[in-house]
Amino acid sequence: MKEEFIAKKKIILTGDRPTGNLHLGHYVGSLKNRVMLQNEGNYDEMYVFIADTQALTDNFNNPKKVRDNVIEVALDYLSVGLDPKKVTIFIQSMVRALPELTMYYMNLVTLARLERNPTVKSEIKQKDFGSSIPVGFLNYPISQAADITAFDATIVPVGDDQLPMIEQAREIVRSFNNIYGETLVEPKAVIPDNEVCRRLPGTDGKAKMSKSIGNCIYLKDDSDTVKKKVMSMYTDPNHLKVEDPGNTKDNPVFIYLEALSTDDHFKKYLPEYKNLDELKAHYEKGGLGDVKVKNFLYEVIEDILIPIREKRKYYEDNIDLVYKILKEGSIKANSKAEETLKKVKKAMLIDYFD
Ligand code: TRP
Repeated sequence: MKEEFIAKKKIILTGDRPTGNLHLGHYVGSLKNRVMLQNEGNYDEMYVFIADTQALTDNFNNPKKVRDNVIEVALDYLSVGLDPKKVTIFIQSMVRALPELTMYYMNLVTLARLERNPTVKSEIKQKDFGSSIPVGFLNYPISQAADITAFDATIVPVGDDQLPMIEQAREIVRSFNNIYGETLVEPKAVIPDNEVCRRLPGTDGKAKMSKSIGNCIYLKDDSDTVKKKVMSMYTDPNHLKVEDPGNTKDNPVFIYLEALSTDDHFKKYLPEYKNLDELKAHYEKGGLGDVKVKNFLYEVIEDILIPIREKRKYYEDNIDLVYKILKEGSIKANSKAEETLKKVKKAMLIDYFD
């Protein structure tokens, strides 16, 4: 009965670490989804935030990088069409209740559980921490649970690498509610339906688009840069001559088309094919050159990026407005999280003077 009451509201929340500009992988994996959810309007509250506190857990020695990228990510958000009238956009460190909630949740999680988190595990390996793992870094899944629960989020749209984080947040919620009584709301992760969108490969064909590898197409890249990147993309290495039959399956050019192109794009830029299936069939049979496919992919990406670039230019020229949006969003988010903190402290019997 009580649970039903709590779950009535639909609250969407998600965020990104400000460690670099957002790219096409972010776009198909999450940003596009968010804008769709926002425009469908089928929710009570929606929050999108810039996770600077979390970015500092592995960039604590590079505060300038985090600071600069807070604004870059805000520009990326606004330029893909997140609308501050519909979505509260805020900065994580401005919400004072989050570290306090984190502190209380830390009691509910074991060290072994944190070390078992697959995303944390692979990040530790990738960052070469060895046995010198900063406590703050290992702890970030708990702080992420605070981010989610502070807003009573029910829906968390993320890339699939974030599923272990949401699972851990759910465990914390259950554990908290068990001990202190029904207080927190259990979140659900939402990942893209289209499987190719969940993990877009890099332009070099490597597993994932990742700024540390330098195989990304950024939302802020200009046309020339996009053209260069697309034309030098990895394709099927055995497709040497136009007549050769080609492989579309592990071919990032076709994977991008799968994630990005629509039948309308074919009508507009490559009308001799009805859809991607026809284009693929031709490539697989032989007789279709990479350059032609890449030129089409370039048009498709440009079709998506041109309006994004235009909006970005507007906000870059009005940067005071961006700060204003972030400030107002942060104030709003802060007061919402304060309410949750109050409930949490009451449940934990540490609400001495209320
Ligand atoms: N971990 C996410 C990332 O690396 C950022 C993030 C922090 C987040 N807190 C969150 C995402 C809460 C969703 C919900 O990009």
